[in-house]
Amino acid sequence: MSRFVRQERHGGVEQLEVVDRPEPHAGAGQVRVRVAAAGLNPVDWKIAQSERVARAFGVSLPAGFGSDFAGTIDEVGEGVHGWAVGDRVFGGNRGAAVADHVVVDPGTLTRTPSGLADEVAAALQIAGQTADAAIAAAAPRDGETVLIGGAAGGVGVLTTQLALETGARVLATASERNHDFLRELGAEPVAYGEGLAERVRALAPGGVDAAIDLHGTDTIEAAVALGVRPARIAAIAAGPDVPEGVVHTGGGDARPGALERIAAALATGSLVLPIERTFPIERIRDAVELQRGGHVRGKVVVSLR
Ligand SMILES: NC(=O)c1ccc[n+]([C@@H]2O[C@H](COP(=O)([O-])OP(=O)(O)OC[C@H]3O[C@@H](n4cnc5c(N)ncnc54)[C@H](OP(=O)(O)O)[C@@H]3O)[C@@H](O)[C@H]2O)c1
Repeated sequence: MSRFVRQERHGGVEQLEVVDRPEPHAGAGQVRVRVAAAGLNPVDWKIAQSERVARAFGVSLPAGFGSDFAGTIDEVGEGVHGWAVGDRVFGGNRGAAVADHVVVDPGTLTRTPSGLADEVAAALQIAGQTADAAIAAAAPRDGETVLIGGAAGGVGVLTTQLALETGARVLATASERNHDFLRELGAEPVAYGEGLAERVRALAPGGVDAAIDLHGTDTIEAAVALGVRPARIAAIAAGPDVPEGVVHTGGGDARPGALERIAAALATGSLVLPIERTFPIERIRDAVELQRGGHVRGKVVVSLR
């Protein structure tokens, strides 16, 4: 048998059940992955909560839960070349990832480099792609100053470090509890909320060149007030009501090879992705509640070992 998290109706965490099902098997052109860990993202509980969101992401209930996973290939279907039993991989499988086994097209997988733990690889697909896309959109450069809003979350910690790698000065918004952590990464923390533009102006009287809003619209508004051109402002979680020219982006806009580059950097330790907490699958509801609370540093992961 194979455990997986099932949701039959939209709603809160009470709709999530851990159930046993017969093991799925790889068909032609597919591989099966024995999942070691599944990383949670806000989109997972948004899909669980709302039929509208679920439809937008191609999920219809009853379904599984979760998107990101990492593990080891344990079955290779007919006609698959270049992949073997024992290969360590990570990937995304919307509405199905929190499970002992996932069956996927291997073309959607990335190899997990040696030295990178499954728990971290499991947290990478959405956050890594989205961080890369946000950097590509705002394009911070050596010598510039970039403002990043929501810098301590799953997408934020990677975006902050990728921005620092360009040589830019990074002003990063978070609550007080994350300020020392952001300083350790090399960023300059600033509190979000009312008065953000004034606080940033005091830190960077010479101005801000680019901004990335990873939370909503507060950072966009502050950036506009600070004179940042909309074309240098990237947003991943803003609605349509943003100033014209602000660049909406997301994981789908990641550049080729982004996940491989980020995974390799995590394996060598030149990037870090903190895991706030790992829960066993039986505690899926607690894991989702923590993620849904909106104040996670880095990622929340579910263990399938
Ligand atoms: N467009 C896409 O493709 C795409 C992809 C991934 C994510 N998203 C969306 O982007 C958002 C962030 O995703 P995520 O995975 O990074 O989420 P996350 O890990 O849950 O983000 C949590 C972080 O948000 C910070 N935060 C909470 N309230 C804030 C505020 N008012 N201002 C600034 N930061 C605040 C928290 O910092 P403190 O703990 O310091 O408060 C925490 O570190 C979500 O809405 C998600 O759905 C979109």
